[in-house]
Amino acid sequence: MGHNSDSTDRTQGRIDVRERPPPTYRPFVDHEDGYFAEHIAATYDDPASDMFQPHTIDPAVTFLAELAGDGRALELGVGTGRIALPLAARGVPVHGIDLSRAMVERLRAKPGGDAIGVSIGDFATTKVDGVFTVAYLVFNTIMNLTTQEEQVACFRNVAAHLAPGGTFVIEVMVPELRKLPPGQNTVPFHVGSRRLGFDTYDVATQRMSSHHVSVVDGRGTYDEIPFRYVWPAELDLMAQLAGLRLRERWEGWTRDPFTSDSAGHVSVWEKPAD
Ligand SMILES: C[S@@+](CC[C@H](N)C(=O)[O-])C[C@H]1O[C@@H](n2cnc3c(N)ncnc32)[C@H](O)[C@@H]1O
Repeated sequence: MGHNSDSTDRTQGRIDVRERPPPTYRPFVDHEDGYFAEHIAATYDDPASDMFQPHTIDPAVTFLAELAGDGRALELGVGTGRIALPLAARGVPVHGIDLSRAMVERLRAKPGGDAIGVSIGDFATTKVDGVFTVAYLVFNTIMNLTTQEEQVACFRNVAAHLAPGGTFVIEVMVPELRKLPPGQNTVPFHVGSRRLGFDTYDVATQRMSSHHVSVVDGRGTYDEIPFRYVWPAELDLMAQLAGLRLRERWEGWTRDPFTSDSAGHVSVWEKPAD
C-alpha cells in the first residue's frame, strides 16, 4: 500500500483459507483485547518491517521529544512500545493507553518497559491522572476508531489531558480514493506469492477494511481489520470541536511539505495557552 506498508498494523480475524468461511464471517475481535489480541501481538514486532527500522522510528521520536520538552507524553494505542520505549529512553516520561493486554505484555517484557505507565482501556474515553505537554496517536491508529463519534471523543479526551500550549500529534494515511476507478472499491497494497493485501472502501460510510492473506508452509491464513478513514480537513474540524487548533502539518516526521501527492501526514494541533 502507498501508506505505512506493513501488514502488522491492521491484521486481525484470522481464519484458515483452506476452509470455507461461514457466510456470517466477521473480523475476529477479542472481547477483551480488541483487534490486537494474542495471535496478533505475538507477531506484531517485525524486525524486517520498515516500521521497526531506526530510519522510521528515530525521526518520530525526535519530533515528539521536541514537543514534549520538559513535560510528559501520552501515547494513545501504545502497543508494544515501538515509539514509547525510545521516547522514554530520551528522558521523556511516557504514559500509554491501550485496550490490548496482549500488546502491553510485550511492552512490559522489553528493557525499560516497566518505566512506562499504562492504562488499559479505550483511548477515546480513558482518563489518566496528570497533564501532558504532548499526546500522540501514530501508525494510522486513529482509524481504529470506526465511527466519527468515537474519533471526535478521542480529540476531546486528548484536549482534557493537555496542559495549556500542549500539542496533539497524529500520523495517518491519506485515504487512497484517488486509486479507485469508478465502480471499484478495492486497492491492493501487496501482491506476492507469500502475502496478498488489499483495502476495501465504502465511500458512503467512510468505512474501510484491510484484508491480508499470508501463506506459511503451504498453509494460508486470512486476517481482516475494520477502520474508518478520515481526511485531514475532517481531523481539523474534530480538533476545533475539542478546542484545539492546527499548528503544523507535514508529509512525515522529517517535515517534508504536505502536498496533494502526499500519501500520509503528521499533523500537530495545540491547546491554546490562554
Ligand atoms: C497499529 S498498533 C500501534 C501500536 C504503537 N502505537 C506503534 O506505533 O507500534 C494499534 C494499537 O492501538 C490499540 N488500540 C486500537 N484501538 C484502540 C482503542 N480504541 N483504545 C485503546 N487502544 C486501542 C491496539 O490494541 C494496538 O495496540
